[in-house]
Amino acid sequence: SLFADGLEDRPDTLAAIDKAIHACRKCPIGQLDNHAVMGEGPDDAALMIVGEQPGDQEDLSGRPFVGPAGQLLDVHLEKAGIDRRGAYVTNTVKHFKYVQRGKRRLHQNPGAKEIDTCRWWIESERAIVKPKLVLAMGASAARGMLGKTVSITKARGRPIPLGDGSELWVTAHPSYLLRLDGPAREEQARLFDADLAAVRARLAEL
Ligand code: URA
Repeated sequence: SLFADGLEDRPDTLAAIDKAIHACRKCPIGQLDNHAVMGEGPDDAALMIVGEQPGDQEDLSGRPFVGPAGQLLDVHLEKAGIDRRGAYVTNTVKHFKYVQRGKRRLHQNPGAKEIDTCRWWIESERAIVKPKLVLAMGASAARGMLGKTVSITKARGRPIPLGDGSELWVTAHPSYLLRLDGPAREEQARLFDADLAAVRARLAEL
């Protein structure tokens, strides 16, 4: 095994993880009125793309990255020539964390403790899919992969070895781009495109 296993046996199929995350109540997010969202894509994908957590639309549809952030991600992946259907797309935290405001559910960032509790599942997915390259989008995804907080600005643009011959690349989260406009948005979109282009080039080498 790639990981120091605890008392619990790691699920060894994606179907078993899917089942287990739906029953998971190890952190307070799992107690909310939401549904676990499983990763999606080939179980032997060379590229694993990791987000933070499902949003409102992902929670309702049961699929990762189908809402506004997912639509923006699709645009940039296509621009970079990366086929999303060939990638395994998943999230660090499996349930949607929100606060209710009237009829709306507002996204809340998961805490470090919640991410660290939920890492069990993404590590299990990685052990099965065995991607050559993992792209973590945003600080929560980077923490989910590394178990510690890294600065996206400092860590982006180069591989971080994951110890099993595979490598991690980090970039911004597409939701971050969505919160910007004007020149700041253009600048971040340019950096995001550059990261995706580097990932595409690296995948061709691996
Ligand atoms: N943001 C994420 O991090 N993941 C999703 O699945 C959707 C939005």
